Amino acid sequence: MRILGIESSCDETAAAIVEDGRTVLSNVIASQADEHKQYGGVVPELASRRHCENILPVVRQALADANMTLDEVDGIAVTYAPGLIGALLVGVSFAKGLAMMSGKPLIPVHHTEGHAAANYLVHPDLEPPYLGIIVSGGHTRIAEILDYTTFRTVGKTRDDAAGECFDKCARAMGFPYPGGVHVDKAAQRGDAKAFRLPKTKMDGNPYDFSFSGLKTYIVNLLHHTEQVGEHLNCDDLAAALQHDIAETITEKTIAAAKELGYTSIALSGGVSANSGVRNALERACQQNGFTLYMPPLALCGDNAAMIAAQGYYNYLAGITADESLNAMASKELRGEV
Ligand code: KG4
Ligand code: ZN
Repeated sequence: MRILGIESSCDETAAAIVEDGRTVLSNVIASQADEHKQYGGVVPELASRRHCENILPVVRQALADANMTLDEVDGIAVTYAPGLIGALLVGVSFAKGLAMMSGKPLIPVHHTEGHAAANYLVHPDLEPPYLGIIVSGGHTRIAEILDYTTFRTVGKTRDDAAGECFDKCARAMGFPYPGGVHVDKAAQRGDAKAFRLPKTKMDGNPYDFSFSGLKTYIVNLLHHTEQVGEHLNCDDLAAALQHDIAETITEKTIAAAKELGYTSIALSGGVSANSGVRNALERACQQNGFTLYMPPLALCGDNAAMIAAQGYYNYLAGITADESLNAMASKELRGEV
């Protein structure tokens, strides 16, 4: 079964064709990052306008790269939540139009569930149940992936996502948007022990995350040193920040896996490209005898192949939509309230 996936939840307009949820036939991404860079972050209206311009050429390219016509597609999967509402609406409206004129099934996909599915594209042996750790610009979540379409959140961020923390700290350090990857590069030159960052303490669910305290501490530290005319070594600060985030993610994920009895862990989302997070989790999984699955760097960030992969499993589970499908800025995972 060949699914056309469409993704437009933030600043990437993407389309891809995936066969049986596992094999990428084409994967086209038109990134707007260079344009948003000049504003220091995504400008929602600009993102919607660019999606509007890019979506048809991107879908055409995905079909051409797969050497297919729309007729040969078996279903149209689209990200309908969560994300920037104006951006999501472009993909949803376009997918609805395509589905209506072609008579193909329309398959709604939750963006976070899509990220998790990126691992299916490169790990043929990965099958639920397993423990997912999904870390990106808008979400940070540990979830049991009980079957391909049933998720149970174990813990999630109470405030900022890890990617948001990376990006805001990166901006204060003077790096361009999106800053996470620049922090990663700087961290590789720096010494994480040069700074002692405050540890966030939380009551309640031990698997929840909170990154806003860390973000505020670092932003304030940078502003204060600038005001008094001093200079901080941003390589060291980046290394300390990355170490802290990687350690927090790793400790909580491993503890959750132990408590819930999982030996397979799958990392995904934009921040899964971070070398510190990858290394820390890999080391901890090795020490505990767990199997760790991670997407290659090209499938960590937003793409439509992951949407088509999850779309395939949604379709098999009978999850389709009609013309009443709407975009939603926020939405819990499937099976949750
Ligand atoms: O999944 P994604 O592309 O979009 C959302 O769904 O949010 O994730 C984007 C996030 C951004 O915050 C970006 O800075 C971060 O992923 N990111 C990284 C790295 N590459 C991307 N953060 C840290 N290190 C990286 N190497
Ligand atoms: Zn994403």
